[in-house]
Amino acid sequence: MMEAKKVMLSGIQPSGELHLGNYLGPLRHWPSMIEEFDCYFFLADLHTITVRQDPAALRRRTLSLLASYIACGLDPEKCVLFIQSHVPAHSQLTWVLNCYTMFGELSRMTQFKDKSARNADNINAGLFTYPVLMASDILLYQPDFVPVGEDQKQHVEICRDIANRFNGVYGDVFKVPEPYIARVGARIMSLSTPESKMSKSQPEGCVFLLEKPEDILRKFKRAVTDSDTERCVRYAPAEKPGVSNLVQIYAAATGKTYEDVEREFDGQGYGKFKPAVGEAVVEVLRPIREKTEQLLADKAYLEQVYRAGAERASYLAGKTLRKVYKKVGFLPG
Ligand code: TRP
Repeated sequence: MMEAKKVMLSGIQPSGELHLGNYLGPLRHWPSMIEEFDCYFFLADLHTITVRQDPAALRRRTLSLLASYIACGLDPEKCVLFIQSHVPAHSQLTWVLNCYTMFGELSRMTQFKDKSARNADNINAGLFTYPVLMASDILLYQPDFVPVGEDQKQHVEICRDIANRFNGVYGDVFKVPEPYIARVGARIMSLSTPESKMSKSQPEGCVFLLEKPEDILRKFKRAVTDSDTERCVRYAPAEKPGVSNLVQIYAAATGKTYEDVEREFDGQGYGKFKPAVGEAVVEVLRPIREKTEQLLADKAYLEQVYRAGAERASYLAGKTLRKVYKKVGFLPG
């Protein structure tokens, strides 16, 4: 008998356009993961409304992200690709798990503290219970691994705590998942302020996945480096954050090691290096942009993909939800 594949799940919020940090971080590793694991990927649209969204823009971005996912190599025949709000079990399990999550532990989430400081006029309950929705997203599918960035590690930890607490009361209902942090290229920094992570909220330092080649090249030419007199291309994040970020991006885009990159640009200064990084990125992103545009022109296909995805996801999610409902004592409907 064939050994069952391990299950992996990840979600991404359609709250902005995908950028190079998303791609060189988690996304790029996903196509190889679908060969190795049973993969569930979803667009976390329920999560986005913790901050106000423009409805038409949210719809547009959700579809565009789905297309980009497929363009990045997530073949919908080989993995389950769906939209979170299409699978009601996510919201349903969230209610149950809200009752097994402590006010104190949610108050300690760093992202809640940051986001409520930034959205002082809209500190809604959803922002507070967001990690419970994320725990539900995960636990419904009993995954072994959850690939997330550093910033989401705390949410995977609280998910584990909630699962252990629930299992402690009712027996082994949930598999307790492991976070899976990709190493190389996991933390791409802004091109304009290399001390902070690349983010769509700082568009000058951010390279979007669907951006035009000339705009990408312009951003790399303007990338902040340093005033080191040797102008030496070297990976040393503490001393040279800007250059190290470019080394990291170039290495990730070309598959070279940091040492290879240092050797390749030895003695050449930043003037040659910056456009070379830009061109490498343009080449990595070109097929993704072209494929995304092609898919977005075929709405019927995309609809068929997300409907089929929701159906497959609902099957597994429904199984877990029924088990939970039974354990807590709800009468079967
Ligand atoms: N909260 C994650 C983010 O903002 C997205 C997300 C939602 C997620 N549910 C998830 C990631 C479940 C992994 C697993 O990036």
